[in-house]
Amino acid sequence: MPIQFNQTSQIFHLYNDQISYILGILPNGHLGHYHFGSRLEEPLSSDLFRADQNKGLTAYVNPNDFGFSLNLERQEYPVFGTSDFREPALTLTLQTGSQIVDFKYSHHLITAGKPPISGLPSTFSTTENPCSTLVITLKDRVTDLELDLYFSLFETLPIMSRRAELVNRSGAPITIDKIMSMSIDLMDDDWQWLQFSGDWIKERHLYKTSLRPGIQSIESRRGASGAEHNPFLILKRPDTNEVQGEALGVSLVYSSNFSISGQVDANGVTRVMAGINPALFKWVLKPLETFETPEALMVYSVKGLEHLSHSFHRLFKENLMVKKWQALPRPLLINSWEAMYFDFDEDKLLHFAKEAASLGMELFVLDDGWFSSRNDDSSGLGDWSVNAKKLPSGITGLAQKINALGLQFGLWIEPEMINLGTQLYEQHPDWVIYDPTRMPCHARNQYILDFSRPEVVEHIFKQLTALFDDAPIAYLKWDMNRNMTDHYSHGLKPENQGELSHRYIKGVYSLYDRLIDRYPNILIESCAAGGGRFDPGILYYSPQIWASDNTDPTCRLKIQYGTSFAYPISAMGAHVSASPNHQLKRTTPLKTRADVAYFGSLGYELNLIHLSDAEKAEIKEQINFYKTHRSLLHSGDFYRLISPFESNGNHTAWMIVNHDKSTAIVGWYQSLAYPNESLKTIKLRGLDPKATYSVEPNCTTASGSTLMSFGLLLRPSFNGIHMTADPIGDHQSRVMVLKKV
Ligand code: GLA
Repeated sequence: MPIQFNQTSQIFHLYNDQISYILGILPNGHLGHYHFGSRLEEPLSSDLFRADQNKGLTAYVNPNDFGFSLNLERQEYPVFGTSDFREPALTLTLQTGSQIVDFKYSHHLITAGKPPISGLPSTFSTTENPCSTLVITLKDRVTDLELDLYFSLFETLPIMSRRAELVNRSGAPITIDKIMSMSIDLMDDDWQWLQFSGDWIKERHLYKTSLRPGIQSIESRRGASGAEHNPFLILKRPDTNEVQGEALGVSLVYSSNFSISGQVDANGVTRVMAGINPALFKWVLKPLETFETPEALMVYSVKGLEHLSHSFHRLFKENLMVKKWQALPRPLLINSWEAMYFDFDEDKLLHFAKEAASLGMELFVLDDGWFSSRNDDSSGLGDWSVNAKKLPSGITGLAQKINALGLQFGLWIEPEMINLGTQLYEQHPDWVIYDPTRMPCHARNQYILDFSRPEVVEHIFKQLTALFDDAPIAYLKWDMNRNMTDHYSHGLKPENQGELSHRYIKGVYSLYDRLIDRYPNILIESCAAGGGRFDPGILYYSPQIWASDNTDPTCRLKIQYGTSFAYPISAMGAHVSASPNHQLKRTTPLKTRADVAYFGSLGYELNLIHLSDAEKAEIKEQINFYKTHRSLLHSGDFYRLISPFESNGNHTAWMIVNHDKSTAIVGWYQSLAYPNESLKTIKLRGLDPKATYSVEPNCTTASGSTLMSFGLLLRPSFNGIHMTADPIGDHQSRVMVLKKV
């Protein structure tokens, strides 16, 4: 087992071929953090990693000892009040009102595999990529509270999983004010902080800053992980780039309020922690109850950002996503939303679907507007019965007719939401999340159902299954179009109100679990007004997530490029939509729209009936191209070549290479054309240097080493009056296929 405990040195060493994670029991019984980085060989001793220090203005733990202060130690899971003045990972309020706890080593257990977390998604061990787990139990001697810290190491990846479990053996209820999934104290502060932030229709843009003394953080208080910040952080050395240098990634397998922070202390130590956002959280833990945190994942790369991303991609594809969808091709879909919004009936849908089938599409998705009296976004949510005026044959009848055209059938739902005026609201106004003494805030005319209450989840489950049981449904688009305000549950006691958001997301996860259990063949694509809940927690249930409501290809370059730092491209729903685009009114070529969307799980979302014959022929070709290369696009390794976040952001390039390096697909994009541009090359990566590749449509042949070291030559975009095959004008793109000859 690649986890060892040395009794003499009191050191735990978790290792694989790539990394070592080293921690030890400090002289007072606390857990010290020693190393997370490249693989270190034995012998290991605490002298190598820590020095008893004597400094002014600090507090010391033991009487007459001026050498041991927790403020000067690097720790695994720090608490407050016992000589460490920095951010604690855990804060409790005891029945006495005291907030002081002091957790010391009690015992530990090393096991093969990785236990699941009850009611929360988490990565799992597999035969190909097994895991071993160390559980260290700490005890607060005064209260008998027990803290179990879980450290799981993936044997073939540079990835550690961390989480904590608090067991109340104190005999009295306590309140948990903060309980993070992981904390780590890094030796120095010479790191750059990379976060993926934005907004609706502008998700996961890369922002980079240097660390500074004090705390910086990203977080959500939205009841969802949110479009504002992704629950993902990279720290990299200033000279680290895609292919070389140290980088550390932290990702939280959680879809609700989170916090990821970095604190640089006076000694230049950087404390990173991730977990549930303590801002809106308070949890009453009764005697003998246990609280389990979500899982945090930590990746270490000494080979740059590319290796960090490849490690996350592999982990998410093989050890997180629903197993069934790991190898299956994702159906190429047509979605009704931007094609017809709420304005449809069965005839219109069938006419549309017929066109989709003739172009080679595989799955027809009926988006919003099919249920209750919903003809705009002000009504219907919560009453999940079909609108018989629009769909006289019901969902089952429509789905069968769509199937008869040779297409699979998929449906949009937004199960967590409710509109006023619905039957559900009339019957259960107290199922809405709001404080009855105040007027609740509205968003998109809708309110949030209290999924912290099992009876609410049960009611929605029953409504949905009554519809789905007989219908041949192959796909669900699960939407969530507003964030949580007015945090108040009518089902929770005053002292438990701080538990609402965590209980809510556990309710959401339980509905996912129950639907997947009942319909194992349905593919669920998650959505939250675009990419507002794009996180590993959701990815566990839904192997593709609608990346953004913004389908403009130039904007999508940044969104998909930023998303690729943590998530595999098969996870990103990407559609070709109409031009001018509905979000920006920008006009772009059909080719560019497809060239961007190929690097995702492809769909179309535009009115096919309005297309010209030339456009239809072009879409047919695009579909053929995608089907031919779909398995490579979804299973190959993704390389970022030119960043839209760097220099003037005018160019972007990326590529995918299959595992035996025999085929690769390169995408190159130009936002604006400039006159008399200089010659450009893209230096490719991931190829076999010794092999010869044909490059289509360039009709070039070159060795892997030439393509990677000299690069692939691109002619200038504007060349006077002569027309060439090269891109001319704004928003242009090229997709090139490389094959070993
Ligand atoms: C959200 C989604 C869209 C669409 C609409 C339907 O905005 O992101 O794709 O499904 O809801 O109301």
